[in-house]
Amino acid sequence: MSLMDSESSDLAGLLERALDTSLDFVDSLTERPSACVAPPDLPSGLLPEQGVGSEKTLDHFREELLPYLSASAGPRYWGFVTGGATPAALLGDWLSSVTDQNLSIAGDSIAPAVEVQVLDWLRQLFQLPETFSGSLTSGATSANLLGILCGRQFAGEAQGIDVAASGLAGTLIHVFSACPHASSLKGLAIAGLGRDSLMSVACEPDSEKMSLSALEYALSASGSPGKIVLASAGTVTGTDFDDLSAIADLCQKHRAWLHVDGAFGIFSRLLEDKRNWTDGLERADSITCDGHKWLNVPYDSGIFLTPHTRLLEQVLSVSSPYLVNDSALPSFMNRGVENSRRFRALPIWFSLQAYGRAGVEEMVAGNCQQAARLADWLEASPDYELLTPCKLNVVVFRPANVDDLTGWLKRVNATGTVFVTPGRWQGTDAVRAAFSNWSTTSADVDRVTGLLENMAKGESPI
Ligand SMILES: Cc1ncc(COP(=O)(O)O)c(C=O)c1O
Repeated sequence: MSLMDSESSDLAGLLERALDTSLDFVDSLTERPSACVAPPDLPSGLLPEQGVGSEKTLDHFREELLPYLSASAGPRYWGFVTGGATPAALLGDWLSSVTDQNLSIAGDSIAPAVEVQVLDWLRQLFQLPETFSGSLTSGATSANLLGILCGRQFAGEAQGIDVAASGLAGTLIHVFSACPHASSLKGLAIAGLGRDSLMSVACEPDSEKMSLSALEYALSASGSPGKIVLASAGTVTGTDFDDLSAIADLCQKHRAWLHVDGAFGIFSRLLEDKRNWTDGLERADSITCDGHKWLNVPYDSGIFLTPHTRLLEQVLSVSSPYLVNDSALPSFMNRGVENSRRFRALPIWFSLQAYGRAGVEEMVAGNCQQAARLADWLEASPDYELLTPCKLNVVVFRPANVDDLTGWLKRVNATGTVFVTPGRWQGTDAVRAAFSNWSTTSADVDRVTGLLENMAKGESPI
């Protein structure tokens, strides 16, 4: 019997072992170190000539890799902006591997209709007009890229040039932003506009929010017929929100494309007391959001929404006789970078079906309360400095009287109790703690403040 034959004859046994391994890992998330900061080197070796089979490979995985993975899906991984995986999302993600659908073109399954439905549910979740549709991406970086590519196409059209067809030669495109996420600069590089093409707009004092007067001045001074404004609905450090209504007015006046990066900040729309922070979002030309952040869907899950799918498809369409299709559903390969696409819609479909709008709201509200709890503790502590009030789910602080912040961060993260990452607030090096995991509780916050207290007293943190 060949190795492949024996594998398929014992698939049930293999999957049961994978299930045991999965449950062990998920159960360990509350107590395993939040991060493995010094994993061992993997032996450099030759590609195996003969395979050992899946069962033995699973043993290798359990012994050689699993102990050194992070608990990034756990409750005290507060670095970057990191979501976990809710049970429903995990089920959906697992089944998207099992079913292994290719969401490139419609015509062979119901899967593309699921992506259409999920995009519409997300549109409703974020309270956007029915004109918005789009596609699922691998993350916010690719969604920002799609926004920039659509903006580029729009700016080209304003100059009578179809950039997707004939390239950028002869176009003049100015891009404006105050505090773009680093991924948008990558998007400018990929789109051929160049990172340095960004015309930096001033922020309001002590804030990462775009100054409207500075934007108005920059747009008026621009002699370019093609303009793109990259606005933020939740900057990554200060969680500041640009005034989208006023920016939409300016974009309308100056015929600029308005792209809004709401990778995680868009979830503030679910909270009654914060809903008005994103007033005007419905007037955006394109929007970025992430599923693998606050929706707590496993990587990789990004969301791109736009009312201008015509432009999106102009940029990304692929045509070949073997890809002809007469379905009324969109061909999603014409709406994203990849032709072959994972069934990314399924984990989101599971999440929204299982928890509904109210469930997502509860998760988001809970994380905001936990962030506020940490911020209150820091503010009251003589040993720490809260660098800016906590508005949403990110807490920006630093230990008082510590010069070597990098060393301090290493010591905290080496405890395994929590994982936090560096940031910069108004020129000061800072620590960022971002709350976006469904399983975090206030007890987790108290555990970490206990650690911080001990560290401040000079007691061994470990
Ligand atoms: C505001 C914002 N935009 C974009 C990104 C990039 O997201 P991704 O890592 O999903 O590509 C992030 C990640 O933290 C973010 O916070």
